[in-house]
Amino acid sequence: MNAAITGWGRYAPDRVLTNQELEQIVDTNDEWIQSRTGIQRRHIVAEGQATSDMSARAARIALDKAGVKPEELDLIVVATTSPDLLLPSTAALVQTKLGAINAGVMDMNAACCGFLYALSAVTAMIRGGGVGKVLLCGAETISPFLNWQDRNTCVIFGDAAGAVILEATEQERGLQSYKLGAIPDTAELLWIKAGATLYPATHERLDQSEQYIQMNGSEVFKYAVRSMVDSSLHVLAQVGKTTADVQLVVPHQANLRIIEAVAKRLNVSMDQVFVNIQEYGNTSAATLPVAIAEAADAGRMQPGDTILLTAFGGGLTWASGVLVWGGK
Ligand code: UT7
Repeated sequence: MNAAITGWGRYAPDRVLTNQELEQIVDTNDEWIQSRTGIQRRHIVAEGQATSDMSARAARIALDKAGVKPEELDLIVVATTSPDLLLPSTAALVQTKLGAINAGVMDMNAACCGFLYALSAVTAMIRGGGVGKVLLCGAETISPFLNWQDRNTCVIFGDAAGAVILEATEQERGLQSYKLGAIPDTAELLWIKAGATLYPATHERLDQSEQYIQMNGSEVFKYAVRSMVDSSLHVLAQVGKTTADVQLVVPHQANLRIIEAVAKRLNVSMDQVFVNIQEYGNTSAATLPVAIAEAADAGRMQPGDTILLTAFGGGLTWASGVLVWGGK
């Protein structure tokens, strides 16, 4: 039994924030942002719009493509690090918005790797026969967690959501191998310190801007390239393939230089790599499902194609997977 992706969708808020606009907000410039990251613009939620709204927008498109009704869903998983609320889960709010009355609901927090971690878990659940039709969203509303005075972070991130529908199939489709990991004792390299249980949001902490994302970019960069390359080679070897067998690499979109470094070390031409960071920036758990949906809509993946997925993020987590594209 396999778990095929039978529908896909994506959503990004209408509000576009360009590098030129950021030049007016913080000490940065378009040349630095483009040359150091590849980002040209990012999308930012409207007042009152949150992760569940974007997830539901992407999900409706994915459900339509799959021809699945919301009430047919057995499970909704939202991979996110920026939930609407601490309680209940964002998936619970998506269930209500879609009217998916028969679905179980849960969130997955593995930061930028959340979608791939959740895809691995859902695939195993479908293979086990416990669930049949699953909605998996990767969605992030990062903008409220950005310190607009911190140029190390505010130019990097954006808001977006992607969604896929997974269904059981006997065909060789969906995730064929995966490897998940995390690097111990690296939490402080990329974190939101204040606002949860260990460091509650006191006035003092808010005055220190500890409720915002903080990142040691250059340290994260080094770990990212090594982990994505090593785990990619591992998952390909698991299914007896090499990068020569891969039609498209869909990497986490954190930095164009990271993507290029990974492609070079994997000996893959950039023509075989899907890149959309210029449009969205780093949308954490949303980058992979948004990229998958865009690549599918653009005809970059055909049924039977071997797709390499690879990601890296806060934790620090890492993950890769080999996906065979195509429906049931
Ligand atoms: O998705 C989760 C995983 N996250 C990542 O994978 C992020 C990985 N890291 C990165 O993508 C890169 O490290 C960044 C894009 C965040 C930063 O690029 P970098 O080449 O590592 O720059 P840096 O932090 O080493 O800074 C180089 C210089 C510094 O100035 P000095 O000290 O050399 O004078 C920074 O202050 O660039 C400066 N700088 C900026 N200048 C203009 C940092 N941010 C900016 C900015 N505009 N926005």
